[in-house]
Amino acid sequence: MPSHPSPLPTPLAVPVSAPLTRSAVVTTLRAAGCVFAEDEAELLFSTARTADALAAMVERRTRGLPLEHVVGWAEFYGRRIAVDPGVFVPRRRTEFLVGQAVDLGRRAAVRTGRPTVVVDLCCGSGAVGAVLAAALNPVELYAADIEPAAVRCARRNVLAAGGRVHEGDLFDALPTGLRGRIDILVANVPYVPTEEVGLLPPEAREHEPLVALDGGADGLDVLRRVTAAAPQWLAPGGHLLVETSERQAPQAVEAFTRNGLLPRVADSDELYATVVIGTRPSSAPRPS
Ligand SMILES: C[S@@+](CC[C@H](N)C(=O)[O-])C[C@H]1O[C@@H](n2cnc3c(N)ncnc32)[C@H](O)[C@@H]1O
Repeated sequence: MPSHPSPLPTPLAVPVSAPLTRSAVVTTLRAAGCVFAEDEAELLFSTARTADALAAMVERRTRGLPLEHVVGWAEFYGRRIAVDPGVFVPRRRTEFLVGQAVDLGRRAAVRTGRPTVVVDLCCGSGAVGAVLAAALNPVELYAADIEPAAVRCARRNVLAAGGRVHEGDLFDALPTGLRGRIDILVANVPYVPTEEVGLLPPEAREHEPLVALDGGADGLDVLRRVTAAAPQWLAPGGHLLVETSERQAPQAVEAFTRNGLLPRVADSDELYATVVIGTRPSSAPRPS
């Protein structure tokens, strides 16, 4: 037994920061301008596996990254969709387009008696195609996008749903064997007029690619290209569904009509969504 008590062990030199508490996270998020700070904090706590991962997520969120990019997924039409950084985050309003497509897809299955052929053009994360496959099962599903990051992300969601993903400019990306066979063609094209891109919230402007947002001078450049080629790819009685703003719908309808598609407009006040739907007449010969 020593005559003097031994000194206490020297504390570790490495500073160990205390794990973040819920209220600290809420305060930090609120200070960074997150309106739903409590809900976001809850989500970050339930997603982060370690205290360090949580701190990193809080830091990325306070730098302005979309919440979906921080946690790596978005909830869409009742399912969890993987969303990688740099890929368009699926919007709630697009669930309205999905609902319309589900309706038409179910009727197509009854009419044709075979799996519905679904194409998700401009697929981004592949959210629309993936949820359609789940709702319309069985389907033959194809998705395509021009952006390599979107294609990589879509492969995670669409392959899991039994579909295939192609990379390229609109229809150029698709297997030619699909010509004249598509029952449901969904194309959530970029539709923000170029001059209005700068007015979008920073989360979109700074963290989603311009090619996913900018639809040209009046926002309808890509939509016009899709409507021009769609009749060659749709099956007789097949449908093209495109999201627009309410203001753009009349010009979109014009583009559908010009290309021989029978148009109608569907609106949702609740989701603030407008969808233009064009049907290839069953009797008309396929344009060459
Ligand atoms: C508004 S985002 C929609 C993404 C996804 N469909 C959704 O609703 O979440 C538009 C997508 O179109 C893609 N895109 C833009 N121009 C394209 C083109 N010419 N060919 C194929 N994809 C294109 C962008 O890369 C982007 O992923």
